[in-house]
Amino acid sequence: MRVVVLVSGRGSNLRAIAEAIDAGRCAAEIVGVVADRRRCDALAFAEARGVPTASVRPKDYADRDAWDVALADAVSGFEPALVVLAGFMKIVGASMLSRFDGRIVNVHPSLLPAFPGMGAPQQAIDAGVCVTGCTVHLVDAGVDTGRVLAQVAVRVRPDDDAGSLHARIQRLEHELLPRVVDALAKGEDPRWLGSAGLRSP
Ligand code: GRF
Repeated sequence: MRVVVLVSGRGSNLRAIAEAIDAGRCAAEIVGVVADRRRCDALAFAEARGVPTASVRPKDYADRDAWDVALADAVSGFEPALVVLAGFMKIVGASMLSRFDGRIVNVHPSLLPAFPGMGAPQQAIDAGVCVTGCTVHLVDAGVDTGRVLAQVAVRVRPDDDAGSLHARIQRLEHELLPRVVDALAKGEDPRWLGSAGLRSP
């Protein structure tokens, strides 16, 4: 399955997908990596791997709609069957949603619908919950509101800060996201992946 990954930062989830593909655990091909900035670790990783990249920066366009059209054009150029938002720090707009309807997924560091938006690990700590986790969901017009595809739980430890909690959540993101991509590639329902062999660290 042809996959385009949208990134803004470190790219650890991009790396996890790439490693799962290399290991034969994910039936996908990363055909392009697109960022909302000119440089980030995720883009550098893609370039080093020989994956075609593109940068589509909001500040190069008159407004958000024009940026969103340009983003959809750049992504379309790679002819993906699936678009994966992996640490992409922008909300995609109507052009992206209509062109890739039901084919955009996002990974988020909480058990949605709890703690959407920025700073989800800190939100979990502030709320005093004992359990949080990660979610892979379809992207719709809201912020982290699309249909949940798969989730895994992570315990919140009494001495956690946002950094330590996010690090443990990310270990599971790196397991879950490639498995969801693999399930979608095979036409399987990823919904029960979380309970099938992924254990909370
Ligand atoms: C992940 O924790 C993901 O849940 C959130 O952004 C982070 C991206 O990390 N949406 P990375 O760039 O994949 O390392």
